Amino acid sequence: MSDFAKQLNQALQQMYDRVCSCEDGLLSPVAIDRGIRLLENLNYPTNLIENLPPGSGDVAFPCANPLPRIISLAPQTILDLGCGTALDALFCVSSLPGLQQLTGLDASSKLLAKGEELLLHFPAEAEKITLFQADLNHLSRYRLEISELILMNGSFNLLYDKAGFFADLAPLLTKNGTLLIYDFLLSEALPPGFSDEVDNWLWNIGGALNSAELKKIVTDAGLKIIEINEIERIDPVARCEIIISHEKRGN
Ligand SMILES: C[S@@+](CC[C@H](N)C(=O)[O-])C[C@H]1O[C@@H](n2cnc3c(N)ncnc32)[C@H](O)[C@@H]1O
Repeated sequence: MSDFAKQLNQALQQMYDRVCSCEDGLLSPVAIDRGIRLLENLNYPTNLIENLPPGSGDVAFPCANPLPRIISLAPQTILDLGCGTALDALFCVSSLPGLQQLTGLDASSKLLAKGEELLLHFPAEAEKITLFQADLNHLSRYRLEISELILMNGSFNLLYDKAGFFADLAPLLTKNGTLLIYDFLLSEALPPGFSDEVDNWLWNIGGALNSAELKKIVTDAGLKIIEINEIERIDPVARCEIIISHEKRGN
C-alpha cells in the first residue's frame, strides 16, 4: 500500500470516527448535507425516516437513495460495502420481504457501534443483518459469502487502488448479480494537483474517475457497466448511479 493510500485510510477512519462524537463542531464548516436532512433531500421514503429512533439518522452520508433500484432487483443477499451506521441495511431489510441476509462492512468502529445501537430497536430486521469492521482495500482477507447485490453508497471514491479493489470484489458477486455504486463521476477534469491532497479525497471528489477510466478498470476485472444514470450535475462532478454486472452472466 502506498504512503498516500495509508494516509488517506487513516484520515478517513479518523474523520468518520470523529463525526460520531463531534456532531456539530467537526463538520459545521463543511457545506455538506448529512443526516436526516440529507435523507429527505435524497427522497428516502418518509415512513422509513419517521420510524427511526431520535438521533439515529444524524450521521447518515449516503450519496443517493438506492432503495427503488434495490427493490426492483429483489436480491436475497446483499453485501453493503462502507455501510456506515447501517441505515441502508435496515431500510433494505424493511423494504424487501425476500431478503435473507445482509452483511455490512465499514472501517469506522464508531459508525458501526451506532449501527448496532440502531439495530437494537429493530430486533426482527437485525436477525438478517451482520455488521463488521473491515478495510475495503483488503477485501480478500475476509471470509465473505458471495452476494446477489453489492452496494457501495458513497464509499467507492474513497478507495485509492480501485483496480485492485475490483479484482477482489468480482468473485464476491454471484454470476447474475449486480454491483450498485452511488458516487460522483467527473464531468470535467479536476484542477491540476487537486487529487494529490488527501483532504480533497475525504468528501468523495479527489478520488472521482471519469466514465472512461471507470470503464477500463471495470472491464479489466471481468465486469461490465450496464448503465450509468446521472442523478445530479455539479460540475466538475456528477452524482451517479452506476450499475455493473459480470461480463458473462450465467444461468
Ligand atoms: C460517504 S460515507 C457513506 C456511508 C453509508 N453508506 C451511508 O449511506 O451513510 C462513506 C463510508 O465509507 C467508509 N469507508 C471509507 N473508506 C473505507 C475503507 N477503506 N474500508 C471500509 N469502509 C470505508 C466510511 O467509514 C464511511 O462510513
